Amino acid sequence: MRVTVGVSGGIAAYKAAELVRALQRQGAEVHVVMTEAAQRFVQPLTFAALTGHKVITSLWEDAGAGDENGIEHIAEAQWADVLAVAPATANILAKFAHGIADDFLSTLYLATKAPLIVAPAMNVNMWNHAATQANVDILRQRGVHIVEPGTGELACGMVGEGRMAEPEAIAATLLAVLGRSHDLAGEVVLVTAGGTREALDPVRFIGNRSSGKMGYALAEAARSRGARVIMVSAPVSLHAPAQCEMVRVTTAEEMRRAVLERMPQATLVIKAAAVADYRPVAVSAQKLKRTGPMTLELTATDDILAEVVRRRRPGQLIVGFAAETENRMENGRAKLLAKGADAIVVNDVGGEGVGIDADTNAATFLTQATAVELPQMPKRELADRILDEILALRRPRPVVVELDEQPEPRPRGTDAARDSELSESVALGSRRRQLIVE
Ligand code: CTP
Repeated sequence: MRVTVGVSGGIAAYKAAELVRALQRQGAEVHVVMTEAAQRFVQPLTFAALTGHKVITSLWEDAGAGDENGIEHIAEAQWADVLAVAPATANILAKFAHGIADDFLSTLYLATKAPLIVAPAMNVNMWNHAATQANVDILRQRGVHIVEPGTGELACGMVGEGRMAEPEAIAATLLAVLGRSHDLAGEVVLVTAGGTREALDPVRFIGNRSSGKMGYALAEAARSRGARVIMVSAPVSLHAPAQCEMVRVTTAEEMRRAVLERMPQATLVIKAAAVADYRPVAVSAQKLKRTGPMTLELTATDDILAEVVRRRRPGQLIVGFAAETENRMENGRAKLLAKGADAIVVNDVGGEGVGIDADTNAATFLTQATAVELPQMPKRELADRILDEILALRRPRPVVVELDEQPEPRPRGTDAARDSELSESVALGSRRRQLIVE
């Protein structure tokens, strides 16, 4: 595990030394990059002594000294498995968000394909400023992992949010991110997102309030974990996720056709779209005029998720969503059974700060055997947690086998080897053994 720790200029820079130590305890080889401001708080020598490597402090530092200049950021960018910036100041977050590359650390960020973790630390007003929050949002949407700052007494004397997270928490996030970094390589993930629209006339439609944020977050998360992603999107006002194959549709029927056409390529289908359940029987060719009371005749659309399940091939995983405003679990479980998906992500769309159009969400990942509660968190983080649960479906579940056994001497040699393949073996009385086979 090769980690580049970026240190930018804040009081919390001294805590980066603890982060380096925590990572080394996990067996990581660590390089440190410091901004100019960081060196006002801590000497590079501290990190050089801890890591046994030269600390990189400038794009140009060695220009006069030999050949290590100009392209060192490229070598570092390729070396790192992960880049962790702690503390991350408002300035470095802004540079990352806008692609400004005017020092080693910001240049390294553009040059590397390694995942990025940032642990912001700053004054509470700077942290809460709309500009900083907008930059953090941009980074989050891009798949950067934000280790949120804590609340407490700040170096400036104020009390509030802005304290850098503890080094152990940053190290734990880093390990989780690395564990996920390519765990979807080889998967082809088909994601649907947004709310479909059913035309009434040339200017009006029946739609819903889905923003598409959850589906887009899932596409981004799957992409950054190494999957090929096909996104079938109903109209939304979001930027297309990077490096995903985009298929734009408007109506439920267009979405159905786009999904069915592409589903043979997919190993995993995630149906996060809010699909219209009804469409008008007739679409007026001209704009409808106001002529007093009006009754619309609607007809049901096809249930795409149910059709995807009917057409699935062996090994394909299918996950649906259930947007509920009441009896969440009961309705979610009924949908899981009715639609035959491997899992349903049940979310409450009536609550504060969750569901439709919100930036955060909470959900229950429901399968026939389990219900995993995923508490309220940013949608991008929730996307990773949902993908973790989906991947767990691919792992075989332990099988419990009970064997009758003749009393015999303790196994040796090959028997012992066989036993080592069994995760657990419990003697039950003298003649029965229970083997839990992973
Ligand atoms: N879905 C679908 N095609 C439809 C309607 C829904 O594929 N015509 C999918 C959604 O993408 C979602 C799941 O079915 O993954 C559940 O959607 P939801 O709107 O919660 O449920 P419905 O099946 O529409 O049931 P109801 O509206 O009665 O709750």
